[in-house]
Amino acid sequence: MIVARTIAVASQKGGVGKTTTVASLGVALAELGEEVLLVDLDPQACLTFSLGLDPELLQLALPDVLAGRVGLRDVITATEEGVDLVPSTIALAQSEAAMLTGDASEYVLKRALVSVLDHYDWILLDCPPTLGVLTVNALTAADEVLVPLQCETLAHRGVGQVVETVLAVTQVSNPRLRILGVLPTMYDSRTAHARAVLADIAGRYDMPVLDPPIPRSVRFAEAPALGRSVLSTSPGIRGVEAYRTHAQWLLAAARVEPSR
Ligand SMILES: Nc1ncnc2c1ncn2[C@@H]1O[C@H](COP(=O)(O)OP(=O)(O)O)[C@@H](O)[C@H]1O
Ligand SMILES: [Mg+2]
Repeated sequence: MIVARTIAVASQKGGVGKTTTVASLGVALAELGEEVLLVDLDPQACLTFSLGLDPELLQLALPDVLAGRVGLRDVITATEEGVDLVPSTIALAQSEAAMLTGDASEYVLKRALVSVLDHYDWILLDCPPTLGVLTVNALTAADEVLVPLQCETLAHRGVGQVVETVLAVTQVSNPRLRILGVLPTMYDSRTAHARAVLADIAGRYDMPVLDPPIPRSVRFAEAPALGRSVLSTSPGIRGVEAYRTHAQWLLAAARVEPSR
């Protein structure tokens, strides 16, 4: 029986590549034959939109699950990219407020995911750009957390906050949570500056900086508007190769150390 390995992609910074990483890594894992579920935990619903669904036309989505109206399986949608999706809508903002007043609010997502753990090899959680109750839910449900980081000046500011939140979660709701590492995104290897940012991050935090960094490419920004992942719109670019490399690495690591 398979037991999904769950990875939260988190950072309270917006625009660092969380959603792109969830979509690209997810599709790269699916290309390798893995069963993949992506969960859109951002009320902006960018992941949902970027995989070709219009959040405003959805009858049922993640907010209905979090409110206990339906089960997770009722909202799972197959996409043309070979991954399944738990879509989101703007109503997730209200779910967040409602969850805050409920008991054990950090476990709501974890409990919802239990019913599908044996259906998937991987579950990737796309967090909103905050460290609020939705991100805490993701960190509570996850085995591992991946922190994308844009290679720019002062990019590291804020990594400390994610790390603190992860530590807090390990003390309260998920002692087994591990930090997979920092994933450098939008990397321009031609600039000494980007290289310096990478070196600085490596020295500053006691966690792996994943290699290779994801190169900057305008193709990444074009794909979401087409409702497709960049792996299908621009399969040959270096950034796609980089995500494929990370997918292969995850798979190899999972074979060495199966899910807990
Ligand atoms: N490697 C990249 N090169 C260029 N643009 C990128 C890259 N990765 C993501 N982007 C673009 O940057 C913007 C922010 O990325 P996104 O994944 O939405 O970040 P987040 O989810 O952290 O807010 C989007 O327009 C996305 O298409
Ligand atoms: Mg996002």
